[in-house]
Amino acid sequence: MEFIQEVLTMEKLGSFIKATGSYTPDRVVFNSELETLLDTTDEWIRKRCGIAKRYWAEQTETTSDLAYQASLKALEKANIEKQEIDMIILATVTPDHEFPGTACFLQGKLDLPGIPAIDVRQQCSGFIYALSQADLYLRTGDYRTVLLVCAELHSKCLDLSPRGRNVSILFGDGAAAMILQQTEEANRGVLSTHIMSDGSHAKQLWCPAPGNGHVSAARIDAAMLEQGLQFPHMNGRAIFTHAVRQMSQELLHCLKQNSKTIDEVDLIFFHQANLRICEAVGKLLEIDPAKIYNTIEEYGNTTAATLPLGIDHAVKSGALKKGMLIATVAFGSGFTWGSAMLRW
Ligand code: UT7
Repeated sequence: MEFIQEVLTMEKLGSFIKATGSYTPDRVVFNSELETLLDTTDEWIRKRCGIAKRYWAEQTETTSDLAYQASLKALEKANIEKQEIDMIILATVTPDHEFPGTACFLQGKLDLPGIPAIDVRQQCSGFIYALSQADLYLRTGDYRTVLLVCAELHSKCLDLSPRGRNVSILFGDGAAAMILQQTEEANRGVLSTHIMSDGSHAKQLWCPAPGNGHVSAARIDAAMLEQGLQFPHMNGRAIFTHAVRQMSQELLHCLKQNSKTIDEVDLIFFHQANLRICEAVGKLLEIDPAKIYNTIEEYGNTTAATLPLGIDHAVKSGALKKGMLIATVAFGSGFTWGSAMLRW
């Protein structure tokens, strides 16, 4: 009987995004600043990736600091007291420390003891995975307000030498937060989420060390450091091809799941790894370019933070208005991918 009641409650409740907020560090790094450091050119980066600049944190800043600043902005925008938050979900691939999770460090900074703090480690798909969790927890009825934060501090993790130029030109730092709450209104907020992964490609984009996956007595040693295993390694071409195929299929899946056509969608947010990937998906599915909201020129690739940063940007720019139907699609390391459809 209790189970049936629970199911009925889940059917009635949904979740919606009450407010968004974001934070980027003060330091702007234009492509020109990377030219000597990485043996690259502004022209190469713009032409191949569509990136003009990115933000890099100060040495004193941590991932949870960026998350904290974004959280304060979302709380202010939502006009609620922080004590209303009854769960924190934080997605990052660049945690403060190996453990505990960065959500715990954020929780300490927010001074919000006594609620669950969960880390999501799903790389560029982190936002979609975190959103699907937040939505499900809110639908159970046990949680009323979830703080979802995506934060990345890549600049301390990159190989800033010519050896790492194919990776290091792409990534930037930033954080975005959302306050999600329950709603009983049908056709409002999160309409669907879908998550997927294929671990047979786990080493196409990965950071090998430190870690236990080595035949070694230590998680990291001098030989690993010498080889640069502490930095991200990427098979860029393979990822490009998979990203175009998977994001196209995922958007179609999302539309089918919601019985919608592309024409009915007002704005589409693709993960921003490379502008050329988004353009290729748009071309393949014959999407009106005005519907695709790109932010890579400004932020670079901020991994998990990319989609919520883009959504917050669209709210601030006035492009995203109440009542609009939006689709978000991500693809990244793992491989992981997923989508969500929302009525704003
Ligand atoms: O969110 C994470 C998911 N990541 C992605 O989605 C990334 C997807 N992949 C890509 O966006 C592209 O693979 C990149 C933009 C990262 C690289 O472009 P590419 O055309 O695949 O480059 P490549 O690594 O195959 O290298 C082609 C050439 C090489 O020179 P040679 O051997 O042809 O003389 C590289 O040395 O481009 C050179 N190159 C660069 N030149 C100037 C690679 N990186 C750079 C650079 N500046 N930064």
